[in-house]
Amino acid sequence: MDDTAIAASAVAVRNLHKRFGDLEVLKGVNLTAATGEVISIIGASGSGKSTLLRCIPLLEVPEQGEVAIAGEVVRLIQHRGRRQPVDAAQVNRLRASLGFVFQSFNLWQHMTVLQNVVEAPIHVQRRPRAEAVAEAEALLEKVGLADKRHVWPAQLSGGQQQRAAIARALAMRPRALLFDEPTSALDPELVGEVLLVIRGLAEEGRTMLIVTHEMAFAAEVSTRTIFLHDGGIEEEGPPSRIFRNPESERCRQFVQRHLNR
Ligand SMILES: Nc1ncnc2c1ncn2[C@@H]1O[C@H](COP(=O)(O)OP(=O)(O)O)[C@@H](O)[C@H]1O
Ligand SMILES: [Mg+2]
Repeated sequence: MDDTAIAASAVAVRNLHKRFGDLEVLKGVNLTAATGEVISIIGASGSGKSTLLRCIPLLEVPEQGEVAIAGEVVRLIQHRGRRQPVDAAQVNRLRASLGFVFQSFNLWQHMTVLQNVVEAPIHVQRRPRAEAVAEAEALLEKVGLADKRHVWPAQLSGGQQQRAAIARALAMRPRALLFDEPTSALDPELVGEVLLVIRGLAEEGRTMLIVTHEMAFAAEVSTRTIFLHDGGIEEEGPPSRIFRNPESERCRQFVQRHLNR
């Protein structure tokens, strides 16, 4: 990956290394997401999928390698034996251009659904309240929660909470969305409604990185699939190949096991 590729990317990591103590979790990962790409990230539990996603907004700081968001490389320095951002303001600004959706919905329980969605646009992005509310209402409509806007999160099903979390992420007008197993915590009958919303976002051409165990969904919505194994990209390519005819035997076995569930 060269500098021109980074400059044109929505999200990029280059030669990413991350360890926790003696455990080397990422062993030199390279990944570039162009605007409009939908990249599904698959792999066994413990293969480093969440760590990879968390390195992008610098929730984890890699010991080696670079991260770029919207073409801008995050500046990191070695300080007293630890690597850290040079400029916290740069990290905050770039982080704000990403939307995250985690396995656990992480809605603020003391705020209504609408308050959850307008909070950051008003208080972080300093957008006018009326504009933020109008946009939030449109987003809640889009995820099928228009009638729930004045309800507390605890009154919603898991699927509804996750759809609210997606609306909240979209309200920041992110350049890219990062999903970490967005349906893993849901009862099986609620998975479909969340995948439907994410599929709609893919069709709109949003840039997304999606860690998921929903293989059929990944095969259908992504433009590219990455199979992580042991901290590295074991195989990547168009889902048509990764899910039907991968080169790696390990990838083949992983996909077979999960497709048949
Ligand atoms: N904060 C942390 N401290 C120590 N070990 C961690 C931490 N986060 C993740 N790990 C370890 O790193 C490995 C990869 O974890 P993770 O990225 O969560 O994998 P995945 O999302 O693919 O299941 C696992 O062995 C996990 O236990
Ligand atoms: Mg994980």
